[in-house]
Amino acid sequence: MSQPRHFLSLLDINAQEFRDLINRAVELKNMRRSNTIYEPLKNKVLGMVFEKSSTRTRVSFEAGMVQFGGSAIFLSPRDTQLGRGEPVEDSARVLSRMVDIIMVRTYAHETLELFAEHSVVPVINGLSDLFHPCQLLADMVTYFEHRGDIKGKTVTWIGDGNNMCHSYINAAQLLDFKLHIATPPEYRPKQHLLQATTAQIEMFEEPREAARGTDLVVTDVWTSMGQEDENLRRREAFKNFQVNQQLMGNTNPEAIFMHCLPAHRGEEVSADIIEGPQSVVWDEAENRLHAQKALLELLLT
Ligand code: CP
Ligand code: NVA
Repeated sequence: MSQPRHFLSLLDINAQEFRDLINRAVELKNMRRSNTIYEPLKNKVLGMVFEKSSTRTRVSFEAGMVQFGGSAIFLSPRDTQLGRGEPVEDSARVLSRMVDIIMVRTYAHETLELFAEHSVVPVINGLSDLFHPCQLLADMVTYFEHRGDIKGKTVTWIGDGNNMCHSYINAAQLLDFKLHIATPPEYRPKQHLLQATTAQIEMFEEPREAARGTDLVVTDVWTSMGQEDENLRRREAFKNFQVNQQLMGNTNPEAIFMHCLPAHRGEEVSADIIEGPQSVVWDEAENRLHAQKALLELLLT
């Protein structure tokens, strides 16, 4: 049997495929707006394995499969044998004999890789501690919709060098935009991910400097899922890394603001920015649906 095609990070697609997915997501969005029935995945089943909580990822994948004529099964560790210690390899071999494609949200990225290695169907990364590639598909659809091509533009990442930041690094490489990253020194993104993208990336410690002349400002929570014990220390480390009016005052006038959500108003972003005219976070959240439908179509048809 040939190896299934997985989507564990953005680097599992090439630049042209990324662009095709963005265009296709916009087409699928328009089809949904005009109530066009399109069911390319009739009788197909998506398995969704969640080690961590989710609102957007779960609902967008589940709704997307139903709209495509298929269905999705939500699997949480609370009620599967995976949660009682059944090996990841065994779970992958069993589940992948029953469903057509699997989305996995894990803590360790290695768990996801292990799962994919033993799966006979495509595996999608629905967030790991290292990457969140599905969110980047949605973010890029949102940028293209609001401002056109991102090639040559400047994007500023503010806050934690986390899974979202890592996927932005991959996106900068594929779509050829400049990425300014402002983090406290001890929360920089992983060094090995930066190596392939040195031409696109500039590191900052001063958030307002990083925002100068930028076209898109992106941030995320200071404490990601699984890091709750570090909350106090992180709040102290990130206290100057809030996206607020002062920071947005340094960007290009046309700059927009994104956040993958859930957001903590008063921490990484001020309420007036996330609710303000530059914020496109609700479009960004909706675009999870359309972007992932494009991805499911790519991997399954
Ligand atoms: N942005 C995102 O992945 O949201 P959920 O955790 O709600 O899925
Ligand atoms: N960085 C966040 C993203 C949540 C969608 C986390 O991993 O919790």
